[in-house]
Amino acid sequence: RQSVDKLPLTVLIAAPRGFCAGVDRAIDIVEKAIERFGAPVYVRHEIVHNRYVVDGLREKGAIFVEELDEVPDDAPVVFSAHGVPKSVPAEAQRREMIYLDATCPLVSKVHRQAERQIEKGQHIIFIGHEGHPEVIGTMGQVPDGRMTLVETVEDVAKLPFTSQDNLSFLTQTTLSVDDTAEIVVALQTRYPQIVAPKAEDICYATSNRQEAVKAMAASCDLVLVIGATNSSNSLRLVEVAERLGTDSRLIQRASNIDPSWLDGVGTIGLTAGASAPEVLVREVIAKLSEWRAVREEVIRTAEEKIVFKLPRELTE
Ligand code: F3S
Repeated sequence: RQSVDKLPLTVLIAAPRGFCAGVDRAIDIVEKAIERFGAPVYVRHEIVHNRYVVDGLREKGAIFVEELDEVPDDAPVVFSAHGVPKSVPAEAQRREMIYLDATCPLVSKVHRQAERQIEKGQHIIFIGHEGHPEVIGTMGQVPDGRMTLVETVEDVAKLPFTSQDNLSFLTQTTLSVDDTAEIVVALQTRYPQIVAPKAEDICYATSNRQEAVKAMAASCDLVLVIGATNSSNSLRLVEVAERLGTDSRLIQRASNIDPSWLDGVGTIGLTAGASAPEVLVREVIAKLSEWRAVREEVIRTAEEKIVFKLPRELTE
């Protein structure tokens, strides 16, 4: 009888959502490293920004630390998907450690571009969010003082360079597609000579997830994004929905949902950041179903087939 009383709730589920190929690979690397070397395997920084994933790997034998000096010389260590400054593998080599690099290949691609731009004598303007590990890792690919971070259009106006300087730019992989486009226009307006990256640095997973939210946000009363508060791509999904005028909330998992959020809500949009597993999406739908009669509908805007190879050390 209770279910008859429940008001219907349409849940639009974004696709693509959740795990990207880089996150899949990073988790795989930690699991395979534990199989191969036995526990414990150390991981420098959260392998991906998701508590559920990190807790699951910890149970299997991973130990998470923030810096390499917390890892004993004789224990294997994995570097997180976000990438690390060059000094980190250099230090691991000096200490003759066994290390595995779970840096997403799309982040490594930006690292290699940074090296090439420095070889060409360019000063790099890097668009990203200060303090994010990917930004620390990418800035750590080049000598000090050769890369300048900008976060906003306003930051571009404050740059000390002239239209004569040899400049290039690169971006973090998990930015807002729209905000970044505005910053790039500001850079190109102020510095017409600035050299752009060969291809877009924002990764396929980030742009596909934003595109999917754009396709559904206008039809929703509320958009829920499953993701961690330190997950850049998840935070951007909240912004995309809000920019289209739809309330949006970042949740870690189902228990964060306050039933009062559903007051007067007929349609909810649901998505998950690139580091959030699908089980958390199912958990949210199960929770919503406790309160309302849920009708699910998938809104798909792209297919993703990309898979990244594991490092050679784990396949040989
Ligand atoms: Fe890589 Fe993009 Fe995922 S950079 S880790 S594919 S969010």
